[in-house]
Amino acid sequence: MFQAENYLEKELSEQLDKGAPYRALQKFYAVCPTNALEFLVIMTVGGFGAYLIIWSGMSQGAAVAMLSLLAVSGWRMVPAANKIITGFKTLEQSWPYLEKLATYISGGHREVYEDGEQAELCFDNDIRVDNLAFSYDVESLPVLSDVSFDIRKAQTTAIIGDSGAGKSTMLYLLLGLLDPTGGNILLGDRRLDATTRGAWLKRVGYVPQSPYVQTGTLAENIAFGVPKPEISIDRVMECCKLAAIDFIDELANGLDTVVGDGGVRLSGGQCQRVAIARALYRDPCVLIFDEATSALDTHNEQAVMGALMSLRGKMTMVLVTHRLDSAFACDRVVYLRKGEAVVVGAPDEIIPLYKERQVCDVGFSECR
Ligand SMILES: Nc1ncnc2c1ncn2[C@@H]1O[C@H](COP(=O)(O)OP(=O)(O)OP(=O)(O)O)[C@@H](O)[C@H]1O
Ligand SMILES: [Mg+2]
Repeated sequence: MFQAENYLEKELSEQLDKGAPYRALQKFYAVCPTNALEFLVIMTVGGFGAYLIIWSGMSQGAAVAMLSLLAVSGWRMVPAANKIITGFKTLEQSWPYLEKLATYISGGHREVYEDGEQAELCFDNDIRVDNLAFSYDVESLPVLSDVSFDIRKAQTTAIIGDSGAGKSTMLYLLLGLLDPTGGNILLGDRRLDATTRGAWLKRVGYVPQSPYVQTGTLAENIAFGVPKPEISIDRVMECCKLAAIDFIDELANGLDTVVGDGGVRLSGGQCQRVAIARALYRDPCVLIFDEATSALDTHNEQAVMGALMSLRGKMTMVLVTHRLDSAFACDRVVYLRKGEAVVVGAPDEIIPLYKERQVCDVGFSECR
């Protein structure tokens, strides 16, 4: 399709060349213990035979019988010894995963809040992004630095900015999937960190920029993570309505149709609406959308935006969008400019700034 066969062939052979020494080493280490063990058995048996005949004065016949016995038992032991060595090698490779699993099983993953305290995290306050800074690695320039704004409770906040401005990164930080390199995210009076992340994630609905649909029925995909017998079909239907999922009747078995890789493949726009319904299913306190309507045509975008806007005032929503119509429909707009400052205000105040790519020379506090 891209007429890139020659390029890909060259790249592949370069990568194969680079990997060749490592593959050779891997093969060497895979056979090395067996050969070393066999060599050791032969040397031991030979050495012991020499000792019996030369130093202990045993007759040749008796020595040969003894050596045959030793050789046979040694030979029988080699496969068992190999299995033990392979077992140790596997254990060594798997050790980091086993440690993680052990921490998980022993409860190290669980957030420290008791139920009563967790309930407080269900928003009675605004979210404060406070002097937030983030770099993907120490050597590269920060993606975000000194970013501060409020996400007001029950309001809809749009985040706009050029491609690469750090909008998705901002959302990952808001979700607690990345740790800031500086500053804080305050959920009311609590800091979003390892101790609050678990409780927070249970209360946030997130629609990613590239949503996925896994193999399973449409209902299972919407009630993601809920055991099948516990899925509330009424709630699924309610969320389908909110997410403008209007294609259920076209599927052979309606909500029970297997979708995803193992079943009916959904279009990009359909996947996006499934992801929106999924985010709504758990009745979250905060909904976070990353370009939730980007794969939709105008008709479906209007339907989904209409549905989302019907939630306006009822829950806190954060919406990353390139579509300025959608940003206009929000209560507040955060304009993220590459790496540095941020301006926040009413849509009719901020969107013209964005359109004209003007630099806001006033400080953040004056822009609020
Ligand atoms: N995993 C990563 N590792 C290193 N750099 C990254 C990573 N993800 C994103 N970046 C860089 O961080 C910057 C911000 O990326 P981000 O995806 O947050 O931008 P965005 O505003 O969401 O862009 P878009 O509108 O295209 O989705 C970009 O320069 C990008 O190259
Ligand atoms: Mg993005």
